[in-house]
Amino acid sequence: MKVIILGADGYLGWPLSLRLLRRGHQVVGVDNLATRRAVEEVGSDSALPIPSPKERERAARELGEFKFVFGDVTDYKFVRELLRKENPDAVVHFAEQRSAPYSMRDVEHAVYTMHNNLEGTLNLIYAVKEVKSDIHIVKMGTMGEYGTPNFDIPESAFVEVEINGRRDRIPTPKFAGSWYHWTKVYDTYNMLFANKVWGLTFTDIMQGPVYGTRTEEITGERFFTRFDFDEVWGTVVNRYCVEAVLGLPLTPYGKGGQTRGFLSLEDSVEALRILIENPPKQGEYRHVNQFVELRSVREIATFVQEAARELGLDVKVEHVPNPRVEAEEHYYNPELKVLPSLGFRPKKVMREEVKVMIKDLLPFKERMARYSSAVMPRTRWK
Ligand SMILES: NC(=O)c1ccc[n+]([C@@H]2O[C@H](COP(=O)([O-])OP(=O)(O)OC[C@H]3O[C@@H](n4cnc5c(N)ncnc54)[C@H](O)[C@@H]3O)[C@@H](O)[C@H]2O)c1
Repeated sequence: MKVIILGADGYLGWPLSLRLLRRGHQVVGVDNLATRRAVEEVGSDSALPIPSPKERERAARELGEFKFVFGDVTDYKFVRELLRKENPDAVVHFAEQRSAPYSMRDVEHAVYTMHNNLEGTLNLIYAVKEVKSDIHIVKMGTMGEYGTPNFDIPESAFVEVEINGRRDRIPTPKFAGSWYHWTKVYDTYNMLFANKVWGLTFTDIMQGPVYGTRTEEITGERFFTRFDFDEVWGTVVNRYCVEAVLGLPLTPYGKGGQTRGFLSLEDSVEALRILIENPPKQGEYRHVNQFVELRSVREIATFVQEAARELGLDVKVEHVPNPRVEAEEHYYNPELKVLPSLGFRPKKVMREEVKVMIKDLLPFKERMARYSSAVMPRTRWK
């Protein structure tokens, strides 16, 4: 299969490229390097050193047929010509601004996030319609689209409702928690519409936060993927592991009962591999929840603290005032059936994997210490 990965220089895009190459697929990796620049903008860097795109291209070619293309998905002509030239079977779309705090900084960052994410997805939709309408679009959304509703979260694009005694089928209600997360909701509605009017084929993935330093292919520095840990770009598990290495307290926001569906980088890449190799029927819109373990941030702090202790690091847990507007204790029960039905079996358990992560990060302590002032929360929702 030939697969284009938009956002191939990112935390997920790079290891997915390696996985698909190892499976014998041809991969064209596209990126405009926006995340590298935006992480620098907030005074931080990846904890693990990452090679340049050219060096990455060389490393990837050890595994298979790979090409890196520099380009911006908000440029319609670029996306259309890319599809014409490469004629892919599937396009994986990761190329979005993916930080909630970054989108909440101020009006410029909110508008950039809306523009970058919505325009990129619309361009892809139109380019597929114009060039080759049977391409499978694998679009990465987020479990954050749902928010934390007080009902069981269905793994379905539509729900049956009854309003004033009349029944109908409506898109699953969503209530996101940042401008970034709202872009994913709007993307979902745009894709549902493109599926309805033009019959395009989608897999729309609601993925929970990913943690980890490794996949099976990351066997040395030339294969490292980026690993962010500052308050803007670092997701919770990754940030706690770096806090542990730097001897900083682990910092659950507020009461720490915020519960999400997490999964390891290895499990994320494998789930994506399965979804790509098992596409939906032509013209189908497939809606997938992608997570492995439901955990609260308080619980995660305990896992990291225990793992650090086993490695001889004494780490404290210090709850800090919540910079976000979110429920700190809530009901959370998302459905998970599509991936298991396709044979997905998770390999990693968070409690064990955080120890592997701390071990992987320890040799880069000095590098991370240069940016330690970027770890504590500064970006506030109000
Ligand atoms: N990492 C997670 O925990 C997580 C969880 C759920 C969903 N997601 C989603 O998965 C996708 C990948 O996430 P990630 O963690 O790898 O993020 P990332 O920022 O590391 O990767 C995204 C890549 O897309 C590129 N990009 C952004 N805008 C672009 C544009 N206009 N044109 C070309 N390239 C562009 C960036 O430079 C970056 O390399 C994102 O859409 C994100 O929202 C991530």
